[in-house]
Amino acid sequence: MEHLKLTQKQKQGIYLASGGAHFALAHDIAELMGVRLGNVERKRFANSERYVRYGESVRGSHVFIIQSLGVTDEYSVNDSLVELMLLVDAARRASASEITVVAPYLAYSRQDRKARGREPISAAAVVKALQCMGADRLVSVDMHSAQTQGTFNGPFDHLTAEPLLRAALRQRVRGSHDSYVVVSPDSGRAKIAAEYAEDLQLDVVHMPKSRERGNSSKVIHPSNIPGVQGRRCLLIDDMIDTAGTLVSAAQALKTSGAEHVTVAATHGLFSDPALERLLNGPVDDIIVTDTVPITNARSLLGGKLEVLSCAPVISRALSEIATGGSVSRLFNDHNNR
Ligand code: R5P
Repeated sequence: MEHLKLTQKQKQGIYLASGGAHFALAHDIAELMGVRLGNVERKRFANSERYVRYGESVRGSHVFIIQSLGVTDEYSVNDSLVELMLLVDAARRASASEITVVAPYLAYSRQDRKARGREPISAAAVVKALQCMGADRLVSVDMHSAQTQGTFNGPFDHLTAEPLLRAALRQRVRGSHDSYVVVSPDSGRAKIAAEYAEDLQLDVVHMPKSRERGNSSKVIHPSNIPGVQGRRCLLIDDMIDTAGTLVSAAQALKTSGAEHVTVAATHGLFSDPALERLLNGPVDDIIVTDTVPITNARSLLGGKLEVLSCAPVISRALSEIATGGSVSRLFNDHNNR
């Protein structure tokens, strides 16, 4: 994606701040925008509480706070979230003129409805907390459920890494259209898989997925999937968490005679035991983006893993937001589903 060159005056109105959960991504975004990353003090107290302080004035600035709600050795998801809330609160109290929260991966997004009585809608709770702290606008990438936008009373820009994933898949397919097939790992992803298939000019296969009663982490697939024998399968999902969904789908595909399985997802969370499953299991090739830090996965999975940078997409979107441009135009209006 092409960069938008900001004028010196436009840059002066922007204050880019990063939480500590994924500093490398914020650094890349800042570099592409040509804007200096603000100097933010971040501390963790002995009892694990967090502290932040802006190192310079943000009065009158449009403050963009970049924090992916992922996990690192130093940050749990909840640490990332609390630090983000504190950064918003501090910016509001320091008289920022506008506060945009950039959470490339929005944690808790899967609990987007009450599936049973007396449950929270965690996605809505997180969004509302950010709004209460003083966020004027939210930006996220490939949210599990786009309806989460409705829980924020204000602009919520939903970016997508799909063009990046498609380009990486197109590279693999190059001229061998008959060998490849797109597979949707569950019914919820069927429409998206069909769109990928149409774009890549491939066949599509839909796999039914169910979960074991009393053990919702156990995914069940039928033992024979028609249409995959001797073919190279592209499995696309929004995230790889424990890799249970994709590995079990890949296993079913291999059992059904698939020759090769590539999995592609925007968010590579890789929670235990994902890396072990991916290293030794039926998946041959993994593509994710860097919406969350990928350090351990990179070193363990080596050449099996391709990590795409989403900094160009995010930096371009932030530049559009800062200058009153259009975000949906960047995606030809295909970022709202
Ligand atoms: C489910 O609805 C999601 O789209 C993902 O398929 C799921 O959350 C991935 O989790 P895991 O990798 O733990 O199976």
